[in-house]
Amino acid sequence: MNLAGKISKVLYGGDYNPEQWPREVWQEDMRLLRLAGIDIVTLNVFSWAALQPSENEYDFSTLDAIIETVSAVEGMKICLATGTATHPAWMARKYPEVLRVNIEGNKRKFGARQNSCPNSPVYRKYSALLARKLAERYGKLENLAAWHISNEYCSACYCENCEKAFRKWLMQKYKTIEALNAAWNTSFWGHTYYDWDDIVAPSFLSEEWPPGRTSCQIQSIDYRRFNSDSLLDCYLAEAGVLKEITPHVPVTTNMMATYWELDYRKWGKHMDFIAWDNYPAMDAPYTRTAMNHALMRGCGGGKPFALMEQTPSVTNWRPYNSLKRPGIMRLWSYQALAHGSDTVMFFQMRRSRGCCEKFHGAIIDHCGHENTRVFRETAALGAELKKLGDVFLDSRLESKAAVLFDWDNWWATHLSAGPTSDMNYPEEVFRFYNALARRNVSTDMVGVDTPLDSYKLLFAPVLYMVKPGFADKIKTFVRGGGVFVTGYFSGMADQNDLVTTEGYPGELRSLCGLWVEETDALLPGNYNNFVIKEGPLAGTWKADLLCDIIRPEGAETIARYESDFYAGTPALCRNNYGGGAVWYFGARPDAVLLDRFAALICGECNIEPVFPPHDGIEATRRIKDGREFVFVLNHNTVESQITIPFACRDLLTDKSFSPSERYALPAADVLVLDVT
Ligand code: GLA
Ligand code: ZN
Repeated sequence: MNLAGKISKVLYGGDYNPEQWPREVWQEDMRLLRLAGIDIVTLNVFSWAALQPSENEYDFSTLDAIIETVSAVEGMKICLATGTATHPAWMARKYPEVLRVNIEGNKRKFGARQNSCPNSPVYRKYSALLARKLAERYGKLENLAAWHISNEYCSACYCENCEKAFRKWLMQKYKTIEALNAAWNTSFWGHTYYDWDDIVAPSFLSEEWPPGRTSCQIQSIDYRRFNSDSLLDCYLAEAGVLKEITPHVPVTTNMMATYWELDYRKWGKHMDFIAWDNYPAMDAPYTRTAMNHALMRGCGGGKPFALMEQTPSVTNWRPYNSLKRPGIMRLWSYQALAHGSDTVMFFQMRRSRGCCEKFHGAIIDHCGHENTRVFRETAALGAELKKLGDVFLDSRLESKAAVLFDWDNWWATHLSAGPTSDMNYPEEVFRFYNALARRNVSTDMVGVDTPLDSYKLLFAPVLYMVKPGFADKIKTFVRGGGVFVTGYFSGMADQNDLVTTEGYPGELRSLCGLWVEETDALLPGNYNNFVIKEGPLAGTWKADLLCDIIRPEGAETIARYESDFYAGTPALCRNNYGGGAVWYFGARPDAVLLDRFAALICGECNIEPVFPPHDGIEATRRIKDGREFVFVLNHNTVESQITIPFACRDLLTDKSFSPSERYALPAADVLVLDVT
């Protein structure tokens, strides 16, 4: 189930918190939201305190009034939050166990949000009960589009509830303490556990120390897995109740793309549709946002997702909160649609007056009227989305190229204790994704459990942890003609972070046709070079971060290191394997080499870009019932001359193009081309 079928146009709206305002303001809000073309509001995100003022008392009067007010607006849909992201103050007073203990080992007090222990029986009981009451009361609303559980689940708890639950989680996983001792390699530093009760949460009081270091990697990795599961269990407890009472209403929560604490690939399997909050830094490359969209889409199995939040203008929580320049909100909204969103939603409708979000952008500013740049831009986009209707809703992107992103691998590489502390897994993955995205090659972000049959090309940079069966899966993929690209810091460890004794890259060794004898970590700012004598990649290209010292075992050497004691040894290798090929980058390549490499490899794999590559011009393709929609976005700050390769019509302006027609796409402008 997802939103499709329930909607007839791109949903447009977002968080609305009228409880922060006197009721006189609500009617004016309705006038303004109508004017802006808003047709969905997310309500009740932080209302637990109001809904349950004491343990045995519930009061839905304000929410009733809010729902009545917004429902009076024709066509207004509701995304109803369960409000469980902040427990009420009385609960913290009466049941201190609902409060988290942080990684320093300090018991938190009431305050902030997402401050509830995920393993607190009291929190579990009352959050599920609130969800039940909401479902019973509002489940029959005709305009209820979706349930929104909690809000941005995040962070971790290290309290005694969690410690106990961790032991149970470990017992289920390892069965015996001996098996745990073996998997955790506890004979190191005399860590042998005699009893499950010896195991404590790996906080700064035990195995970990700032910034994010640990003396027992697998324990810390297992804690990440456990904590992600614990928060997921909170989600599932509420979702279960909602499903029981309103099986027809899709259920979701809002995610945050490359967010460290939560294994969203696991979460996505339990969500009716993916919803996520997109807050790119003003100077983030557009391809980085694209990767986040693709990652989120992938977590939902490729189905359309919801852009649940973005700011219409400005955030407040960065050190420097620059305004989105004119046209950028529109451009980034279309970018979400281009990558598979069926909604454009904001945080928030009206700007708060007090507390830490008072300077966060909103559609209605503090001045309270519509005569602002931000309102005008929002209303203009609202009108445009109305015009677009449902043409591309519920369509899919189809990709022959995929990039692997795996949370366990992120945890393991980040916590690894050597060879370099500059290893940033999402950014390493991004370098490779970027090279494909810049060429407008439709690219999916996949997990180790994603079927690979529909792909021709798989990039798996920094595939440090090779989970059971994954090496075989890649071998099958390559034997069948697939091309696999990997490299430095790959094939190092199993799912328990036990390092291979088969010679690096372990299970990938025969596939890559090489053995990595040693790995050199380069100091910041230092680099070696890839030297390539001939062919399409010929040149000298920067190699940094890590340099593997490679002994080929059948692989062909494409590049050699330029300097140091391993000068002249292989730096980039290619191995024929079955009907396919494997490429191994011994060191981190610079962007220019990666660009050339992406062009070469896509050519070899017969992967055509969706649209001719052009600096700063992004293009994606959504397909529905054989009908193709190509989104073309100009991320440049200047007009760009593009050549439209096919006959098509722009759905935004109704302008028709003939094949090879030149067009000057204004800065930040967008085309939505119907190519049928
Ligand atoms: C998150 C939250 C919102 C709000 C915004 C501000 O995405 O979900 O409640 O705090 O950040 O950017
Ligand atoms: Zn806890």
